[in-house]
Amino acid sequence: MNRKSTITKEQIRRWLRETDWRRLDTLFGRADRVRRDHVGDEVHLRGLVEISSHCQRDCLYCGLRRQNRILSRYRLSAEQILACARRAVHYGYGTVVLQSGEDSGIRREWLTEVIRQLKRQTHLAVTLSLGERDRADLAAWRHAGADRYLLRFETANAHLYNRIHPPRRPGLPDRFDLLRTLRQLGYEVGSGVMVGIPGQTIDDLADDIEWFGRLDLDMIGLGPFLAHPHTPLGQEYAEASDRPADPRQVANSELMTYKAIALVRLVCPDANIPSTTALASLNPQNGREEGLRCGANVIMPNLTPPAYRRQYEIYPAKACLQEEPGRFDQQLKQRIAALGRRVGVGPGAAPHYLERRKAEVPS
Ligand code: 5AD
Repeated sequence: MNRKSTITKEQIRRWLRETDWRRLDTLFGRADRVRRDHVGDEVHLRGLVEISSHCQRDCLYCGLRRQNRILSRYRLSAEQILACARRAVHYGYGTVVLQSGEDSGIRREWLTEVIRQLKRQTHLAVTLSLGERDRADLAAWRHAGADRYLLRFETANAHLYNRIHPPRRPGLPDRFDLLRTLRQLGYEVGSGVMVGIPGQTIDDLADDIEWFGRLDLDMIGLGPFLAHPHTPLGQEYAEASDRPADPRQVANSELMTYKAIALVRLVCPDANIPSTTALASLNPQNGREEGLRCGANVIMPNLTPPAYRRQYEIYPAKACLQEEPGRFDQQLKQRIAALGRRVGVGPGAAPHYLERRKAEVPS
């Protein structure tokens, strides 16, 4: 566990089963105080740029899966990416997140050069979220100046993981191996899971939350599983909806996601935790704010050029489809102020990362 964790595994399980709102309010209040004490009142904004919707994987839940032939694919040019980064600077964001499907068309050398340019032209922190890549790629990008890497392990239950991810060539590093590699390379490391994957039990989700602490992560993102009709898991979910649910099944609901966010905050007090777009997709009115009120301290406004957003449909009805960057930015900042919080300035690294780096590299 993260050494600062203030909760036991049994308590995590109990909270995940809790349905009484009054009692849950005490959980959310406690998570909110832990958030304030460890990462403060700043809400860090990360400009998300979805740089390619090509994907060579076939994850059973994701709309970008290779076999989804209905989706037309795009890959942004270096100049388009740099233009998005300039928007991030314009809005005062401290970080740009480059995300894509697992796309071997994103060549190591090409992205190395994009990262160099980004670091030369802006003061932005650069986060990558590009799936499972070779150690040599990860090392080159780190060397070029990339600061952070996000790679969700999706579920720590190996059986469930294998059910929703087609097998890969044996001998390849798994996501846990890659998270270790990223850490060795000096990245600030993020991971996460989906909440309410069909077949995921309360015990599984409690294990996931415990894993976040054990992996000593700097960033943890989690959002509800959202059924995509053009995926096998989305279809299975739709067909099962008229059958009674297994009582152990984790709901892919807003409330379950808030509980999970709050519990992650208690397990990893000084990590950065976003209130995710998937959550906002379940509740476009105030899902993001509610996430911020029960433990989260980061929001990732979408800066992908609007013309491409429909082609990056991981799940349907993504909140960002309705969000024009300029207006969204203004509203977001007002909403953060209305919560009594401040917009973060600077790169906004997780205190957890800064502390562990101090311990690793004695000055
Ligand atoms: N519902 C919710 N989240 C999803 N992701 C992918 N597909 C879905 C879906 N159908 C999440 C995965 C991935 C991240 C980029 O998006 O957790 O790691």
